[in-house]
Parts: sequence; C-alpha cells; structure tokens
Amino acid sequence: MVKQGEEIYKAKCTACHKPDKKYIGPAPKGILDRRSPEFVMNMILNPEKMIAENAIVKQMIAENNGAVMANQNLTQDEARAVLEYFRTLK
Ligand code: HEC
Repeated sequence: MVKQGEEIYKAKCTACHKPDKKYIGPAPKGILDRRSPEFVMNMILNPEKMIAENAIVKQMIAENNGAVMANQNLTQDEARAVLEYFRTLK
C-alpha cells in the first residue's frame, strides 16, 4: 500500500509538493504530527470544500501567496494509499 501510495504521489502530487520541503504546497513530511488522518483524506479527496470551509486551509492559502490545491480525482483507496505513504515520511 505504501509503495502504491508513493507511485500515486509521484505521478499526481509532485507538480506541487516535494516530500520533505515546501514547494507550491507544504511538504507532507511529518504531516500526521500536524494533521489528523481525516484532514489529510479530506484534503486529497475534496480540496475545494476544504479550501472553502476549513480555517487551517484558509490560513495555508494565505501563507502560500494564494496558491490553492487542485483536486486530482483520486479514489478513496488511492487517497488511503497516499496517506499510508505519508505516514512513512518522517
Ligand atoms: C496544483 C498544485 C497542487 C497539486 C497538484 C496537489 N497539491 Fe496538495 N496542496 C497544494 C497547496 C497550494 C496546498 C496548501 C493549501 C492550499 O493552498 O490549498 C496543498 C495542501 C495539501 C495538503 C495539506 C497540507 C498540510 O500541511 O496541511 C495535503 C495533505 C495535500 N496537499 C496533499 C496532496 C496530494 C496527496 C496530492 C496528489 C494527489 C496533492 N496534494 C496535489 C497544492 C497542490
């Protein structure tokens, strides 16, 4: 599952995220120390709603000079695999 998550991440997320340093979006390294698994799943599966409604995400957008995350249309299972991959980034 971790391997699958890493592949999905490389294919669909690295345009904006680097694993261990800030790029267009924040680095996912250590993300599970900052955010709940639900937050990460929601951000992957439904960024539009998070951007519109979540105070933490609004704050991040301000810090990222207005850059917003785009929905990559992952399935629930794919998002879960990416979450498991994120758990390994420490
Ligand atoms: C178009 C650029 C872009 C792409 C592609 C993208 N993201 Fe993001 N992501 C962002 C930005 C920018 C943020 C910061 C929040 C915001 O501004 O919307 C973010 C935030 C996040 C967060 C929350 C980070 C935190 O510290 O709370 C997660 C988790 C995340 N992205 C995961 C992913 C995953 C997984 C993918 C691939 C499926 C992905 N992103 C693809 C730009 C992107």
